[in-house]
Amino acid sequence: MNAALPRLACAGALSLLCAAASGTAAADQAPSAGQVHPALWPQVHAAALDSAATEAQLTRLMARMSLAEKVGQVIQADIGSIAPQDLRRYPLGSILAGGDPSPRGGTHARPRAWRELLQAFRRAARARPATHAPIPLLLAIDAPHGIAHVRGATIFPQAIGLGAAHDAALVGRIGAATAEEAAALGFNWLLTPTLAVPQNVRWGRTYEAWSSDPALVGSYAAALVQAVQRAHVAATAKHFIGDGATTDGIDQGDAAVDEQQLIAVHAPAFVSAIEAGVLSVMVSYSSWQGIRMHGNRELLTAVLKQRLGFDGMVIGDWDGHNQLEGCSSSSCPTAFNAGLDMFMAPDEWRGLFEHTLAQVRAGQISAARLDDAVRRVLRVKAALGLFAAPSLTTAVRGEIGGEQHRALARQAVRESLVLLKNTGGALPIRADAHVLVTGEGADDIGQQCGGWTLSWQGGRRHNEDFPHAQSIYGALSAALASAGGSAELSADGNYRSRPDVAVVVYGEQPYAEGLGDRPNLVYEDLQTRSLLARLRANHIPVVSVFLSGRPLQLDAELDASDAFVAAWLPGSEGVGVADVLIGDVQGRARHDFRGRLSYAWPTRFDLGYGLDYGSDRTLARLMMSQEVGRR
Ligand code: BGC
Ligand code: BGC
Repeated sequence: MNAALPRLACAGALSLLCAAASGTAAADQAPSAGQVHPALWPQVHAAALDSAATEAQLTRLMARMSLAEKVGQVIQADIGSIAPQDLRRYPLGSILAGGDPSPRGGTHARPRAWRELLQAFRRAARARPATHAPIPLLLAIDAPHGIAHVRGATIFPQAIGLGAAHDAALVGRIGAATAEEAAALGFNWLLTPTLAVPQNVRWGRTYEAWSSDPALVGSYAAALVQAVQRAHVAATAKHFIGDGATTDGIDQGDAAVDEQQLIAVHAPAFVSAIEAGVLSVMVSYSSWQGIRMHGNRELLTAVLKQRLGFDGMVIGDWDGHNQLEGCSSSSCPTAFNAGLDMFMAPDEWRGLFEHTLAQVRAGQISAARLDDAVRRVLRVKAALGLFAAPSLTTAVRGEIGGEQHRALARQAVRESLVLLKNTGGALPIRADAHVLVTGEGADDIGQQCGGWTLSWQGGRRHNEDFPHAQSIYGALSAALASAGGSAELSADGNYRSRPDVAVVVYGEQPYAEGLGDRPNLVYEDLQTRSLLARLRANHIPVVSVFLSGRPLQLDAELDASDAFVAAWLPGSEGVGVADVLIGDVQGRARHDFRGRLSYAWPTRFDLGYGLDYGSDRTLARLMMSQEVGRR
């Protein structure tokens, strides 16, 4: 960034000289690493989360709370390590369902088991002995693409696909649907949206983020936060800040960028979220200029809370405080004093409770800091209307994976597909064609959903684990069968009857977070490459459907395909892919391609690139007129 140049020139040994020569205020001097200048950050017109009446109510409540109750409010445990009855002794403020743990330990818990578990937690919280009205729990779950951890939930396209759709209203509707499904089980807090603005797609979390373009991420942030919170479910802007800026795209790594870039690229979406009234912000595992965000008082307190005016609650990431020097999973006054309002302490919540209590008593954490954090936590609960919820049972309503939500997900899939290549009219496929459907991802719902699906890392599972969902093969086959065509599924690319066209589905295997980091962007899949070559040798037109959490360099596959569709990680509604690929019996498109790249495609296509059936015709016309001209 140009703005950094003059400061760079004044760095190091020169800095004292420079400062002396310019005689300017501290903010203009060469910054030492990690130095923050809150005045450079925008001042935000944050949506008011507090009203005088609510604050007065919270003041009265807090006056009656014991120290232990206050400490309990600032700790969140994970369902894998806490039972409802533990809440009697440990008055915690929140419970989380992390990426793996499920009710009763299994990974296939039905919605009913989720409802019962959350109900039991609520009941236990209400039954806690206290000198004041019961304090309700915040019940949190991740929702990067719907509450996909829960069997039967609607699984929307991962964020990268929604980015390609360039449709903030759609993202808002998905937010509302996701919040409804979460609330139907009893959750009142979603750990979404991810507002990362990835600058290096080697990062394993690229698919969790909408785009490398801060403006797009900002517009989506506001739409999603508003929609989720309108449904009385708290949203979480994460991960503050600079998670998408780490060197080499290393997860939980160090963002070495200067403060200007942090402000220009990584902050705008947080500003939108705060303006939209987001109730919670999650701290990033990553560091900025060598300082871990969980301990960065300047950025968490001076910038986020003071300068950006955020009045909600700052939650740590999964055991994130443990990574600070001098801290452990069960003790970390440094993070709390830096501005964390709630520890995400999945397993070590007991020890953390005892230590934090002792640290407040010993003055290592001030009473004022504790009160500020507790007030922020309670403010969120008040904003959600939890103190007013009439009873335990009536709060939980609605269904998950219902028809309307699945129709919305299907629309999102259609909008997210990006057509990178279409030669010789390979697409759309005539509805009465005979189609070979092959490639490892053809009939694998787990693969088309990616990470954060049923389990943290996602992964191959049986299609039966996804009630109502359709694999891409299943969807193509149904669409063709209804119009006189047929589909033939083949694992190895061999076929019984010669196909008019082959759809080859392949791409990345599921991953989440750092396990998805890549040393480079080259896609190497020799098996698919030889499959494509064999089909071409037999003069069968090839349509590649590429499933991935990011753009990858695959020149050989692009060249060996007549048509190439970047389908990202579309989720449970494979039928959205069939909607766009399969035309009518005359070969006319039923739905056009609308997706445009929200990340540049390495070495090939710019941000914003994407063909549609119209551009194909234009291209064809152009080529024809050139030929006519030549004659
Ligand atoms: C992730 C967060 C997530 C949390 C809870 C962490 O590993 O970084 O994004 O919300 O786990 O599952
Ligand atoms: C949890 C996830 C969490 C991850 C972080 C997993 O075991 O289920 O929620 O994000 O650990 O390491």
